[in-house]
Amino acid sequence: MTKVSPIKLRKTDHIRINLEQDVRSAKTTGFERIEFIHQALPELNLEKVDLSLSLFGKKLSAPILISSMTGGTEEAKKINRRLAQAAQEIGLAMGVGSQRAALENPVLIDTFSIARKVAPDILLFANLGAVQLNYGFDINQCRRAVDMLAADALILHLNPLQEAVQADGNINFSGLAKKIEGICRRLGKPVIVKEVGWGISQRTAKLLANCGVAAIDVAGAGGTSWSQVEMYRAADDLARDLAATFIGWGIPTLDSILNVRKAAPGMTIFASGGLKDGLDIAKSIALGATLGGMARKALIAAADSSKKTVEMLKLTEMQIRITMFSSGIKNIRDLHKAEVNVAEIHNKTNQKMDYD
Ligand SMILES: Cc1cc2nc3c(=O)[nH]c(=O)nc-3n(C[C@H](O)[C@H](O)[C@H](O)COP(=O)(O)O)c2cc1C
Repeated sequence: MTKVSPIKLRKTDHIRINLEQDVRSAKTTGFERIEFIHQALPELNLEKVDLSLSLFGKKLSAPILISSMTGGTEEAKKINRRLAQAAQEIGLAMGVGSQRAALENPVLIDTFSIARKVAPDILLFANLGAVQLNYGFDINQCRRAVDMLAADALILHLNPLQEAVQADGNINFSGLAKKIEGICRRLGKPVIVKEVGWGISQRTAKLLANCGVAAIDVAGAGGTSWSQVEMYRAADDLARDLAATFIGWGIPTLDSILNVRKAAPGMTIFASGGLKDGLDIAKSIALGATLGGMARKALIAAADSSKKTVEMLKLTEMQIRITMFSSGIKNIRDLHKAEVNVAEIHNKTNQKMDYD
């Protein structure tokens, strides 16, 4: 029997658990706290509402990001192909999952590079765990990850809690800021740092801004909980109990966006973590994000079929379009400056959001 590598097993587990189990955080994203102001006379033609934008030298037809997920197995390759084909057809941004497996075993490169092969024009992000910079990786691996995809930028993900609750996790996160700073300085491509579902505090945002990152993807709490994923992977009761402790951990996505705005004014923000539809993406952009990302939702569609993937993403685009139309907002620049109401759940009064 051929030996299956631990990384391959982990990737297979991640897809299976995300598709079969309830891995949602006990937290909500916070988007239920805000709403757009309806305009009965928007003075717009729905068909002319303009969702397009430019980012890192690429044009996107809508501010939608298919968040970093997978690669490393045949099943993952199929998912990357479907996601990338849909991104190319519609004109969206996409990230692949951590490319560590392909750097350690080049046979796996095509399970990631398939994304660029079928989507030559999209804004495409490479991905590595930032912690790998403490476990032997340096600028060379970062360059190879980017080159493997002809990627437009590199995403380094931060997942301390996930590493801490998994067996044999990489738990030395000390001194990473300095190493991230070095990668930002030397890569020659934008470096984006993201969480994986527990959000970004003001302290972290400030640290990352000082490192020179080009964007922060907040990947806040309210969606997929990676401690829950690890709970389903746990080998014994003790490991299961340890992971289960953190079902309600993290900074909600909405609060994470506001944290970055406050601590790192002018920073490009990607919003993700539990975004459930185009309305949530539109809310993120009104709060200051440039893109709204979805991971697990895109995985569920891609595991089904190419048709479902395109349908889901076109529906998301239409949800953003109708949100803008019904709020009297004609383009993405205006959406950035849009007024949103804070729904005060307790006293039922509405007030304007004050986040500056
Ligand atoms: C199957 C799966 C695999 C993932 N693998 C990665 C990864 O390799 N690198 C990464 O930065 N994030 C990874 N993520 C995290 C997502 O990019 C995202 O931050 C997180 O799932 C929260 O978004 P969601 O609530 O829309 O799922 C993965 C998510 C899923 C569902």
